[in-house]
Amino acid sequence: MSFPENRPRRLRRTEALRRMVRETTLSVDNLVFPLFVCPGKGVRREIASLPGQFHFSVDQLGREAEAVANLGIPAVILFGLPERKDAVGSEAWHPEGIVQRAIRTIKKAVPDLVVAADCCFCEYTTHGHCGVILEKKGNQSVVDNDATLENLGRAALAQAQAGADIVAPSGMMDGMIGFLRETLDEAEQQDVILLSYAAKYASAFYGPFREAVASAPSFGDRRGYQMDVANIREAIREVALDVEEGADIVMVKPALPCLDVIGEVRREFDVPIAAYNVSGEYAMLKLAGQKGLLDYDRAMVETLMSVRRAGADLVVTYHAKEAAQLLTGKR
Ligand code: PBG
Repeated sequence: MSFPENRPRRLRRTEALRRMVRETTLSVDNLVFPLFVCPGKGVRREIASLPGQFHFSVDQLGREAEAVANLGIPAVILFGLPERKDAVGSEAWHPEGIVQRAIRTIKKAVPDLVVAADCCFCEYTTHGHCGVILEKKGNQSVVDNDATLENLGRAALAQAQAGADIVAPSGMMDGMIGFLRETLDEAEQQDVILLSYAAKYASAFYGPFREAVASAPSFGDRRGYQMDVANIREAIREVALDVEEGADIVMVKPALPCLDVIGEVRREFDVPIAAYNVSGEYAMLKLAGQKGLLDYDRAMVETLMSVRRAGADLVVTYHAKEAAQLLTGKR
């Protein structure tokens, strides 16, 4: 019998030793919490497809923002359910649109909390697509890229003028970052940060979110603008374009099915990287935890740690509040 020469287990013997050699950290500083804003007054309603997450009316947001900030979470990202939808999603750029009011409310209640606004049209259009629908011409994509850019510019500006720190375009339109940077700069909004959903895949894991904001496309799907899950070189190209066009932070989405993409983007680029641990990823753990199939808290930390280990600086996650409680000993 020959004994092993190398014994990595020595370094795992006690928690203090494990702490000393731990390669990746997970801190509240890395977390961004998504918030869903809905019409009405006094609304704080649990979302059926996302147990533990809520729809908030604007008047409830100040209190929620305070709770988030008190946990040490530095940022929220806002999604809106508009009062009314139309063919182009015009509530997205109305100064009194749901997200613009939400931004002002949160900024007033907790000025130091970083407020990001998702900038897209699928929640605002009657057809549920992320932009202006093209007249059917041959085999063109259903969404008109350049007409959508114009509207994205309007929406980004409305969000910036309401006080958003970060505008996060998620519609995967070509040239969206360059166009938005120019639009914001011309309006003297140079300090507004652009967080690009740069490598966003046409993923099945967005299911619970689309249920939550009623944004599922009424015909077709998003594969004409979101990325094919089979591709990784294309993700690098998408990120490269966005960095060139002036993105301050680039995001990979979803997170768990794309750990390899996050890793590759980390190796290739020096900008801060965010990953979106999406609704389907959250729901899987939540429901499995509720059924007692796994230890929810441990699975959550393992998930978030894996996304950090892959190379993400920031993780947008519905787990943010629970993770923050756990990390700060409040859970
Ligand atoms: C809007 C948008 C989506 C998500 C974030 N922004 C949905 C989609 O592309 O259909 C998904 C987030 C999640 O699943 O948690 N374009």
